[in-house]
Amino acid sequence: MSDFMVFLKRFVSNPGRVGSVIPSSRFLCRQMTKQVPWSQANVIVELGPGTGVFTQAILAKKRKDAQFFVVERDPQFRKLLRQRFPDLIIRDEATNLTRYLSELKLPKADVIISGLPFAVFPETLRTAVLDNVIGSLAPGGMFVTFQYSLQMKAELMRRFDRVQVSFTPLNVPPAFVYTCFMKP
Ligand SMILES: C[S@@+](CC[C@H](N)C(=O)[O-])C[C@H]1O[C@@H](n2cnc3c(N)ncnc32)[C@H](O)[C@@H]1O
Repeated sequence: MSDFMVFLKRFVSNPGRVGSVIPSSRFLCRQMTKQVPWSQANVIVELGPGTGVFTQAILAKKRKDAQFFVVERDPQFRKLLRQRFPDLIIRDEATNLTRYLSELKLPKADVIISGLPFAVFPETLRTAVLDNVIGSLAPGGMFVTFQYSLQMKAELMRRFDRVQVSFTPLNVPPAFVYTCFMKP
């Protein structure tokens, strides 16, 4: 089955968690990974990898000795990720992120890259995930997320020291990339 068909099926089965009918484009992937300081990132986490568009890029760009794991709640996506990336460490719920870091005996993350559809999450879930992100980032750490609107801008600006927003018109649908920095 093509990635598009897998995505469409997962969206139909749970639109409020998958949040999109197709995987992100290479244009969005490039924008999401562009600002990451790869040579300095020791611990990297990806939230909501879906079919693994960003995962593939992260694996290609990260330092060989950098620690990396992904968090994906959908069992079909997890199965596909295991087939595609046999050595990948996979966990299943973004609201448990701080717990996963301590279970894996890792320090706080330098970089968290997220594909989570915050705009369609209920407020309690959005708050719980963002609390976990903030609680899991090292000082000076970076959180990169994309959304199809500017709805999250005020909340991210309130929670982070600095937020940069860029626009990727060539994605379907066009997307905003938020790059958020913790205080050093
Ligand atoms: C819009 S898709 C993005 C997929 C992929 N990153 C991309 O850009 O093509 C959102 C993904 O987040 C996952 N997801 C939603 N809620 C989650 C949660 N609470 N914990 C972990 N993953 C979650 C969905 O299953 C889906 O794979």
